Amino acid sequence: MKKIVLVLMACVYTLGLWAQALVQSGPMLGHTDLRSAQVWISLVPQATVTATAAADGKTVTALVTKDDNAYNNIQRVQFYNLEPGTTYQYTLQITAAKQKSTVTGSFTTQSLWQFRRPAPDFSFLAGSCTFFNEPQYDRPGKPYGGDSSIFEAMAKEKSDFMLWLGDNWYTREVDYYSVPGLHYRAAQTKALPILQNFWKAMPHYAIWDDHDYGPNDADKSYVLKETSRKVFSQYWSNPSYGFENQGIYSKFTWNDVDVFLLDDRYFRSNDDMEDSVNGMPNTEKRMFGKQQIDWLKNALLQSKTNGSIAFRIIATGSQVLNQVSPFDCFRKFPEEFNDFMNFLEQHNINGVLFLTGDRHHTEIIKQERTGKYPLYDITASPLTSGTHKFGGPEANNPYRVLGVDQLQNYAKLSFSGDKKNRKLTVQFLGIKGDLIKEWSVTAAELTTKK
Ligand SMILES: [Fe+2]
Repeated sequence: MKKIVLVLMACVYTLGLWAQALVQSGPMLGHTDLRSAQVWISLVPQATVTATAAADGKTVTALVTKDDNAYNNIQRVQFYNLEPGTTYQYTLQITAAKQKSTVTGSFTTQSLWQFRRPAPDFSFLAGSCTFFNEPQYDRPGKPYGGDSSIFEAMAKEKSDFMLWLGDNWYTREVDYYSVPGLHYRAAQTKALPILQNFWKAMPHYAIWDDHDYGPNDADKSYVLKETSRKVFSQYWSNPSYGFENQGIYSKFTWNDVDVFLLDDRYFRSNDDMEDSVNGMPNTEKRMFGKQQIDWLKNALLQSKTNGSIAFRIIATGSQVLNQVSPFDCFRKFPEEFNDFMNFLEQHNINGVLFLTGDRHHTEIIKQERTGKYPLYDITASPLTSGTHKFGGPEANNPYRVLGVDQLQNYAKLSFSGDKKNRKLTVQFLGIKGDLIKEWSVTAAELTTKK
């Protein structure tokens, strides 16, 4: 009897390994709206996948496409013609030669509340700077990567989605000089076991910053930026990636929040280019570039016409408002910065918040404006990379209304209340999901009365 049990246990274990053996990383939930949902998965070479999802006794099929990727077998499962506000159980059947395996999970479509009832309460997670140690390729000395169990705490959060704020993986010398190097770092990070539960737990959206785009402080001159853009678009699952095959900027809507995903690298002038020439802002020095800023302005005006939107979150890797930072910040691109600030004032765009990363510390910077509501720059960093201590000109930053340094952390942004009392609460949480600090702002406080 004991022998039979042991043999059965061995069979179950082997079948489990078999199932795992066909999957390199994922499944990861991607862009999800009211009527469709993306599931991303990377499989061993030659493996294929078919998919179904079911809710309330109804089964739907999916469109499966394979990315044009010579290094990894990335498959996208697009569930469509779904019902809003519904939780679906999905099943992926994976086949390779004589091996078969089944992966299951669930996703929930966004609800149709507009013109019917108040926006649902919901939350999302955000964070930046993810470094996983790989000692043979890392700088010698103390490992730069911290405790990656933070992703287990994040996977347990009952949040609607995760927004990766850049430096989502760190390319090193072995990666950023070649096409296969860029693919290697993305695939290696995505396949790490500690991330697999998180990929499945909620949809993931992302922007990039220098380290997942290319070398430290990389700008528009990076010669592999086309590959980098392709890698980013293949290893994430955003709704779109720039326009006319340039940049990775995009936008999505979650209930009453519009999220603008900015690209602060593809079009960026070098940080060391002069801020001003003959006392005037240098018109050549740009962080986002004319094409992207033009899109952003139009997208904000478009958003303004949508009466159901309470908050407009502009997410970008580099900080935006920090007046005393010795490091990169949108302010150091005065031509574009001043123009954009004037635009926000002139057009009275309400509910704007900046959400940024990169700094290896967390803080909220406040900028007062004459006759207008104040602007805030919420910086969340780092998830696992080295931490930073407030020092130098930033030791007592007078514009900082909340600060967390020397601690790994992530942000949880929760939206609650009816339209008149709609409120955003931002919690900064530590490695075990423990509350470090909290701050809140209402939609009314981000509104300029006419
Ligand atoms: Fe960065």
